[in-house]
Amino acid sequence: MERKVHVALEGRAYDVVIGPGLLQEVGARIAPFLKRPRVAVLTDETVADLHLDTLRAGLAASGIEMQALALPPGEATKSWPQFSRAVEWLLEAKVERNDVVIAFGGGVIGDLAGFAASVLRRGVRFIQIPTSLLAQVDSSVGGKTGINAPQGKNLIGAFHQPSLVLADTEVLGTLTARDFLAGYGEVVKYGMLGDADFFAWLEDNGAALAAGDMAVRVEAVARSVQMKADIVVRDETEQGDRALLNLGHTFCHALEAATGYSDRLFHGEGVAIGCALAFELSARLGLCSQEDPSRVRAHLKAMGMKTDLSDIGGTLPDAEALLALMGQDKKVVDGQLRFILARGIGEAFVTADVPKEAVLAVLQDGLADCQIA
Ligand code: GLY
Repeated sequence: MERKVHVALEGRAYDVVIGPGLLQEVGARIAPFLKRPRVAVLTDETVADLHLDTLRAGLAASGIEMQALALPPGEATKSWPQFSRAVEWLLEAKVERNDVVIAFGGGVIGDLAGFAASVLRRGVRFIQIPTSLLAQVDSSVGGKTGINAPQGKNLIGAFHQPSLVLADTEVLGTLTARDFLAGYGEVVKYGMLGDADFFAWLEDNGAALAAGDMAVRVEAVARSVQMKADIVVRDETEQGDRALLNLGHTFCHALEAATGYSDRLFHGEGVAIGCALAFELSARLGLCSQEDPSRVRAHLKAMGMKTDLSDIGGTLPDAEALLALMGQDKKVVDGQLRFILARGIGEAFVTADVPKEAVLAVLQDGLADCQIA
């Protein structure tokens, strides 16, 4: 059942291994990367409680010693205070230039640990062991690392590719249904942005995926990672095509800022709502058929996902204020917002040519059933 995706970046190539039971074999899998049998692990308290003993045993089976630091779970950890705590701990743990840091957790830990590895002693290698669906299909692959700033998400960071990614699909079994579905927002994004057949496959197999069918999980993660790997190899530092991976993210980042990066809206939930809004905007601009946004919304709803702005609950800022929040997006070039729009399901493209009035109209209509602050 195991699958392997090769990320063929010249001089920085690595494999993403996907399948159940990888944690138990982790020592044998990472031994070829080690110069001495010890690793430093950055994780969070939730993942540590659930899986750290399994990781330790998997390493010990190959005679590898482990030291671990468990940070608090949640987005607030992607901050300077937790980052400096992690870097200083790694130095205290005497991690040397030739050692390997392990990122063991979801997107927050992967991003923070990767950034810590990128600056520690001017750069040490790191291995991603992603434990959330979102991290397995998106954030652990492609080398984007970093932390948040008060001015916005992921504004401080570095490109630093991992040496290996081990995506153990069995670990997904301990995610809450909400966390799993939030990660699914990134899975379905791949179908919407570049592979209509994958979107149709997800329409047929989404229920089995959510129910825990392991073969379907492996296939969904592998297809997502393959698409991400292909894009990252074409455009590692996001000069062009990599921006396609941000389908739905311009809307999402504004919604996350509006909800204070809190539990009111998980990132993947914002991506799903953002994708629905991006298709709505595309249809209104005459780029895709009216049926496409309906089909996107129907699938998200069938999966039980947040789909509309009104699904967020509580009060939201008005459309003008949401548009202003989009201005902090990293995709702003020369003050011009760039959107990922679509000519159909599986046919996304990047454009700066979007009339502000059209964006406002989509937001205003979406906010019609919401409480406005
Ligand atoms: N998550 C978007 C990217 O890696 O480019």
